[in-house]
Amino acid sequence: MMTAPIGVAVIGAGMAGRAHCAGYRTAPTLFDPPLPPIHYAAVIDANPSVAADAATRYGYERSGSDWRTLLDAPDVQVVSVVVANTLHREIVEALLDAGRHVLCEKPLADTLTNARAMSDAAAAHPELVTGTAFVYRRQPAVAALRELVRDEFGEVSHFNGSYWCDYALSPATPMAWRYKGAPGTGALADIGSHLIDLAEFVCGPMTAVGGAAFTTKITKRFVPLGTTYGHAAAELSDVAEPVENDDVATFTAHFASGAVGTFSVSRVAPGHANSLAFDVMAQHGGAKWNMDRPAEFSVARKSRGDGFDGYNQVLVGPAHPYLKGGVPMDFPGVSYGVGDLFGFQARAFLEQVAGIEGGLPPVATFADGVRDLTIIDAVTRSAGAGGAVVELAAQPDAAIPITN
Ligand SMILES: NC(=O)c1ccc[n+]([C@@H]2O[C@H](COP(=O)([O-])OP(=O)(O)OC[C@H]3O[C@@H](n4cnc5c(N)ncnc54)[C@H](O)[C@@H]3O)[C@@H](O)[C@H]2O)c1
Repeated sequence: MMTAPIGVAVIGAGMAGRAHCAGYRTAPTLFDPPLPPIHYAAVIDANPSVAADAATRYGYERSGSDWRTLLDAPDVQVVSVVVANTLHREIVEALLDAGRHVLCEKPLADTLTNARAMSDAAAAHPELVTGTAFVYRRQPAVAALRELVRDEFGEVSHFNGSYWCDYALSPATPMAWRYKGAPGTGALADIGSHLIDLAEFVCGPMTAVGGAAFTTKITKRFVPLGTTYGHAAAELSDVAEPVENDDVATFTAHFASGAVGTFSVSRVAPGHANSLAFDVMAQHGGAKWNMDRPAEFSVARKSRGDGFDGYNQVLVGPAHPYLKGGVPMDFPGVSYGVGDLFGFQARAFLEQVAGIEGGLPPVATFADGVRDLTIIDAVTRSAGAGGAVVELAAQPDAAIPITN
C-alpha cells in the first residue's frame, strides 16, 4: 500500500468540477483505513478567475488556465477531467501519456469512436488507474436495491427508468456546449448516460434497444455575453445559434436476463429539477427509487397474501451501503446528498491509486464508459431509423456483472 502523499488536480471548475474538488477534500475523512496524505495541488479552468476561486474555496495550492502545465508537474499524480465532453479525449490521452491516474466525467467522450480510443489508451497503461465518473452508482439507495434485486427478487421482468430535468426548459437558458453535437449527444448523453448505466448496474447487460424517438423543442439559443457554467442563467447577446441535439429521448430495451426496459429522458420537463427515477419489477418483488427523495426507497417483497402486501417505504441508514463511515453522523435518519456521492467516488478512486484492498467498490472503468456510449450510439441509430431495433454486441465492451 502506498503511503507517499498523493497529489490531486482537477481540470474544469464549473458545475461538476467543483463537486470533484470538494469530493477529494472529503475523501480522507470517510471510511477506514486512513488514506495516504492527500496533496491538493491544482485547479485548472480555461477561465482563470473561476479556477482561482475554486482553488481558494476548496484549499488547492495553485490554480491555472492551461491543463498542459499538469503534464510535467511533479506534485500531481491524480487528475479529474471535468470539462465539456468534446475535450475529454485530448486531455485524457495526454494525461495518460504523462503517467497520471485519470478520473474522467461521463459520458466518457462525445463519440463512441473517441471513447474507444480513450479506453485503448488506458489499456496501454495498465500501471495507471482510470475511471468513468458514474457517481450515481454510489447512491446508497441504488446500491442497496441492486443487492436486493440480485439476492431476493428472482427474475426481473421490467425496468422502467426516467431522468427528467428542466434545465433547458427556458428559452432564456444560454447557448452552451451541451446544445452542440450530433443527435444523441443532448439529453440522451448528458443525463440518459447515467440512467443507462444504472439500468445495467441493477439489471445486468442489455442485448438490444429499439423504439427510439428524439425531439428538440427549443431549436435555437442565445449566446451569453459573459462566462457561464452549468445551467446558470446569464445575460444574453442577440446572437442566436442552433440547438443541434435532443431535448427529449425515449426508447425500449431487452436485457440478457429476458427482462425488458422502458426509458425516457428529458431536459425540458417542467417541475423536474433533477428527477432520476426507476422501478424494477421482478418475480418476487418490486422496487421504486426517485432522486427527488434520494434517501428513501420503496419495496414490495414476496407476497404473503395476508392483506398487508404492497410497497413499504424504507429510509436509508447505516445498514445500507456507503452510509456507515460515509457521513459525519452515520445514524439512522441522518440523510445525505449528491455532494456526499462525490466524496465516496473520490475516496474509491484514491483507494485504487493507493492500492488499498477490500474498500469501496471500484470506480466504473473506461470500458464501462465505452459500454454506455455503445448503448447511446445504438439508441441514436434506432431513432434515426424510425425506431428500428438495434442489437448490441453479444460480448459487450464491459458486461457489468450482477453477481458482485
Ligand atoms: N456526474 C455528474 O453528476 C455530472 C454532473 C454535471 C456534469 N457532468 C459532466 O462533467 C463535465 C463538465 O460538465 P459541467 O456541467 O461541469 O460543465 P460546465 O460548463 O459547468 O464547466 C466546464 C468548465 O470547463 C472550463 N473549460 C472549458 N474549456 C477548458 C479547457 N480547455 N481547459 C480547462 N477548462 C476548460 C469552463 O471554463 C467551465 O468552467 C461534462 O462531461 C459533464 O457531462 C457530470
